[in-house]
Amino acid sequence: KSIKIFAPATVANLSCGFDVLGCCLDTVGDEMVISLSSKPGVRITKIEGADLPLDTKKNVAGVAVEALLANYENEIGVDIEIYKKIKAGSGIGSSAASSAGAVWAVNHLLNNPFSPHKLVEFAMEGEKLASGNAHADNVAPALLGGFTLVRSYAPLDVIKLHTPNDLVMTVIHPQIEVKTSDARSVIKQNVTLKQAIHQWGNVGGFISGLFTEDYELIGRSLEDVIIEPMRSILIPEFENVKKAAISAGALGCGISGSGPSIFALSKSITTAKNVAEVINDVYTKTGLDFDIHISKIN
Ligand code: HSE
Repeated sequence: KSIKIFAPATVANLSCGFDVLGCCLDTVGDEMVISLSSKPGVRITKIEGADLPLDTKKNVAGVAVEALLANYENEIGVDIEIYKKIKAGSGIGSSAASSAGAVWAVNHLLNNPFSPHKLVEFAMEGEKLASGNAHADNVAPALLGGFTLVRSYAPLDVIKLHTPNDLVMTVIHPQIEVKTSDARSVIKQNVTLKQAIHQWGNVGGFISGLFTEDYELIGRSLEDVIIEPMRSILIPEFENVKKAAISAGALGCGISGSGPSIFALSKSITTAKNVAEVINDVYTKTGLDFDIHISKIN
């Protein structure tokens, strides 16, 4: 039994929700072919498009599937082929796509013995391997779709949020690699009460905006007073991209996950395309290679 799947890219944090908010992109992602085999064990048989380890224990898809099989009653084998389109270190959930895609496919081939929420736990093992931290804000939207909130990590409590139909994401990916582990090491471990109040007001506002489809409120809430000031220095032209995106009509703009990708959320495909154009202009001047994706959230 074998299945070919689309493993979606995701945008984590969404400015105000470091490690708790994320959303799933509809048209940006990898392909994977997953097969069940009578030969026990997990094997990564092919990787195209990226220089990633074939060793199961060093591959995020491998460890995620091993976590699933450790909870499965029968002894089975799994062969994994990965066709990467999302670059590692791009900030749009490359490792999450592989981990989440692999466990989703195996679960599907086994006739869904595990709930999507349980799959999030298995996929988090992949994230732990990739960045040293089992954050769920990329794997949860990759598995549940749309927008998700990690309300709690211990115990894990993941909530699927509402996705307003008109939201469109523009993502620019400058072709430099920022390792999530490095981007996490620049973050100070303490926040002030003033910052916390500002931030949790925005998280609440953002989620309320999603459910009431209040696009203005979504826009106002896309603000990060804690992480963005520390991380944006790693991203060339971040402030100029943000200014250009907002002036072109984006509801909000911020760092995608741990960067270097930058996301802008807009209310229509027309605005998302205008945003892409102005961001393109800003980045063309840098001489850096980059690509831009426009995608709905699903
Ligand atoms: N919440 C994580 C971080 C996402 O910002 O480090 C990494 O993609």
